[in-house]
Amino acid sequence: MDSFTFTLPTGPATVLFHGGISVPALPASGGIYVADRNTEPLLRAASGFSPAAPLVVLEPGEAHKNLKSVERVLEAALGSGLARDSLFVGVGGGVVCDMTAFAASLYMRGAPVDLVPTTLLAMADAAIGGKTGVDFGSYKNCVGSFHPARQIHVAVASLRTLPEVEYRSGLAEVLKTALLYAPKLYQIMSERRDEILERDEALLLEVIKRCVQAKARVVERDFREAGERMFLNLGHTFGHALETVAGLGTVTHGDAVAWGIARALALGERLGVTDPAYRAEVVPVIASYGWSVDPVHPALAGQADVAARLLEAMKNDKKKRAGRVRFVLQREINSTVVQEVEDADVIKVLG
Ligand SMILES: NC(=O)c1ccc[n+]([C@@H]2O[C@H](COP(=O)([O-])OP(=O)(O)OC[C@H]3O[C@@H](n4cnc5c(N)ncnc54)[C@H](O)[C@@H]3O)[C@@H](O)[C@H]2O)c1
Repeated sequence: MDSFTFTLPTGPATVLFHGGISVPALPASGGIYVADRNTEPLLRAASGFSPAAPLVVLEPGEAHKNLKSVERVLEAALGSGLARDSLFVGVGGGVVCDMTAFAASLYMRGAPVDLVPTTLLAMADAAIGGKTGVDFGSYKNCVGSFHPARQIHVAVASLRTLPEVEYRSGLAEVLKTALLYAPKLYQIMSERRDEILERDEALLLEVIKRCVQAKARVVERDFREAGERMFLNLGHTFGHALETVAGLGTVTHGDAVAWGIARALALGERLGVTDPAYRAEVVPVIASYGWSVDPVHPALAGQADVAARLLEAMKNDKKKRAGRVRFVLQREINSTVVQEVEDADVIKVLG
């Protein structure tokens, strides 16, 4: 087994890479497992699982990422008499990881949490860095806390049962990380697409390790998202707007982010920020994974006022400042800036 430790203001965090799915041993003061209906079988089959410990099985999916679910976890923890030093263990995708860590941060003002991510997105991104939370009202992740996992247990083998659509969604975030921080990872994505799409486990392990290291370095430098951590929103301003305008659930998050990255490159080139040769290199790689790089995403083709509606959605996004939208743009790989952009320039790259 391999491991990697990084240091956050709250203390060290260790990512452990296991051959088969494995959960941490519970301390003498006990613990609680949290999974969803799809990840419960993985938890029950995991090495180290204690059947006697309390287990909360949530309904899967973003629709259940709310305070009600967190309350269920807290009720079960209290009902089982857990102490402040009992361990919360989340086994699942980003939704379960974010909520388990949030519940742990609230329990007795902060109990320890370990995460066992089971989606590519959660392994490469969501389980690393301590952002926890739930959706509230119509806003994603707007109630939450910073409460990092002490240990993150990764087993690539757990991705075998992950539905294709979820796997591809995670890959878009891997591409984002590669472009922001990891030229070698980008090279792997551009040259070894077939093995990646076939989920070659040795290669995936390398891909995930590179993502984990890149994300860990960012959160070490900017734990509370005061600056650089914002770069992780590359492709997301366009992507969220597409998800909203197309109707939530119509376009997957990953498809939207990949399309958004292509739009951000077009916008950067238009503004003289992005090297045209860089965009010309990256766009075909995005397309080779089957993601749209068209100015008008196929989900919106033929609809009226697409650009204006997308711009409106961006302006309603919580990241706006003083009416103008801020974009993460790239000069080239590993060279990123955040800047406000005039509406007219945004409109120009949307059709
Ligand atoms: N905290 C952070 O820094 C951070 C970063 C990025 C994303 N996120 C959050 O992550 C969430 C998205 O995470 P996600 O994409 O993992 O979605 P998810 O947690 O909803 O999982 C996707 C689906 O796959 C199922 N699933 C999970 N693992 C499985 C497996 N191994 N086999 C079969 N089915 C499995 C789940 O039950 C679910 O139905 C969003 O809520 C987002 O806000 C958080």
